[in-house]
Amino acid sequence: MTATAPKPPQHQPSGLDQRLLRRVMGEFSTGVTIVTYRDAEGECRGATMNSFTSVSMDPPLVLVSVARQARACAGLDGNPFTVNILSANQLAVALHFAGQPDPDLSVPWHEAADAPPRLLGSTAWLQCQPWQTYDGGDHVLVLGQVVRHDVRAIEPLTFHRGEFRRLGLKMFQMPRTVSFDGRPAVEWAASLHQLHGLAERGVGPDDCLDL
Ligand SMILES: Cc1cc2nc3c(=O)[nH]c(=O)nc-3n(C[C@H](O)[C@H](O)[C@H](O)COP(=O)(O)O)c2cc1C
Repeated sequence: MTATAPKPPQHQPSGLDQRLLRRVMGEFSTGVTIVTYRDAEGECRGATMNSFTSVSMDPPLVLVSVARQARACAGLDGNPFTVNILSANQLAVALHFAGQPDPDLSVPWHEAADAPPRLLGSTAWLQCQPWQTYDGGDHVLVLGQVVRHDVRAIEPLTFHRGEFRRLGLKMFQMPRTVSFDGRPAVEWAASLHQLHGLAERGVGPDDCLDL
């Protein structure tokens, strides 16, 4: 429990099937971030998080939902932090900060006296000042105000159905499909996209599924 995060109110057990609920949540594809900060001893720390979302442009606010039992929950309490949006070639560092520390991994920290640490090699980063925390049940919703940021156009790491993935095809890089009245036929395009994906995975016409 962090010093300032509000406590969750008393509640009844939901009775929901938690495994199914996790599967449902896993259908929502996300990017992957590592939130980095300095702990009380001044050491660089990080935690892999995919609950990142943008909240507001004015003021510029972002949010991460942090498990109450994670070290990051206390570590982010009233502390500046950086949200590092991971590139596809940062899988090792994502696992390292997700509870699978690799003692042989050399973490590419970028350190500056006047800023929280960040990681080299990410596709984008947002340096944040603590803004506010809110109760999120067994998580704490941590909002940060963005004070610096940068981006590089490289391929992001993504997460879907509990697995790390690379980004798929752009929808409109597919063969262009136009209906007879000249309007784009989005439904046809989506089906073609799926066919393309199946063909790439080696699924032939005889195995054809619902499109
Ligand atoms: C893809 C992925 C996304 C994750 N997202 C979150 C998240 O949004 N919030 C969170 O609290 N933990 C998340 N975790 C789990 C933490 O990374 C993990 O508990 C980590 O060990 C926390 O480190 P800490 O205890 O040093 O803070 C995620 C793990 C993975 C693999």
